[in-house]
Amino acid sequence: MASGSTQILRTTTHVFCSKTAALVAPIPAYEECAGYAALMGYPVKTVKLREPSLTMDLDALLGAANDSGMIFFCNPNNPVATGVDGKGTRDFIAAVNKSSPNTVTLIDEAYFEYATMPGYETMIPLAVQNPRVVVARTFSKCHGMAGLRMGYAVGHADAIKKMAAWDATGSVNVLGLNAARAALQKSKAEVDAESKRNTDARTFTAKWFTDRGYTPTDSQTNFLFVNINHPARGFRELCAKQGILVGRDFPPYEKTHCRISIGTMEEMQKAVKVFEQALATAAAAA
Ligand SMILES: Cc1ncc(COP(=O)(O)O)c(C=O)c1O
Repeated sequence: MASGSTQILRTTTHVFCSKTAALVAPIPAYEECAGYAALMGYPVKTVKLREPSLTMDLDALLGAANDSGMIFFCNPNNPVATGVDGKGTRDFIAAVNKSSPNTVTLIDEAYFEYATMPGYETMIPLAVQNPRVVVARTFSKCHGMAGLRMGYAVGHADAIKKMAAWDATGSVNVLGLNAARAALQKSKAEVDAESKRNTDARTFTAKWFTDRGYTPTDSQTNFLFVNINHPARGFRELCAKQGILVGRDFPPYEKTHCRISIGTMEEMQKAVKVFEQALATAAAAA
């Protein structure tokens, strides 16, 4: 257990990377590992996404992996929302294990419960057997517990021991621990209901954009990453004036794409009215 999965991301970067063993990460991706590596003075190799799908470029990641300390494999990937299926992930790990046997792959499954693509799978069963694979999970997303700072890692005893040796105190709070225990006791039906609520609102919102000629990526998360054909900043400012907050800039896509969080269906029905006006204003000004 850890103080949010943020702590898992930092600990794995600290333990498995070094000044001579780089962190490899797609760009854009959730920035914690790359930010922590930079802070420590560890080299960071970034790998662009495939376009236009904005999926991770597994061949390029494999190419960059050689002799690296750790690959950050964010699946589904924040901020672009796309995922890699189980076979693709397993084949990638096998190829890394062969070409760069000391490299650890950190699979960040923060949005696991929201993924709906065919063949998407957790890598937990693989991680417990393979000391070069660690899975990070969080209670911050589907369980709505971001403020309680609870996350965890699952891996082979050898990998977890190395992590615990550095971060042995496990900075978790008792309230969060008890809330996490309660969250784990939820029935599958309760978790599925939250996932379905998100999928319904996400499908509605994605269709709204697609019908108007704007292209969202194939979202596996509780947000969309949409090509709105305008800089995110102007769109964001227009939406904010009407009380709707959308995501910050995500280079290198800030000139065309915006990340939009999915709320309830009712919230998204209100939000798209604001998006309609903001996109019309942005188009008129262009
Ligand atoms: C992909 C991903 N991993 C990890 C985190 C960190 O979450 P937490 O530290 O709240 O568990 C986030 C938060 O947004 C995220 O998007």
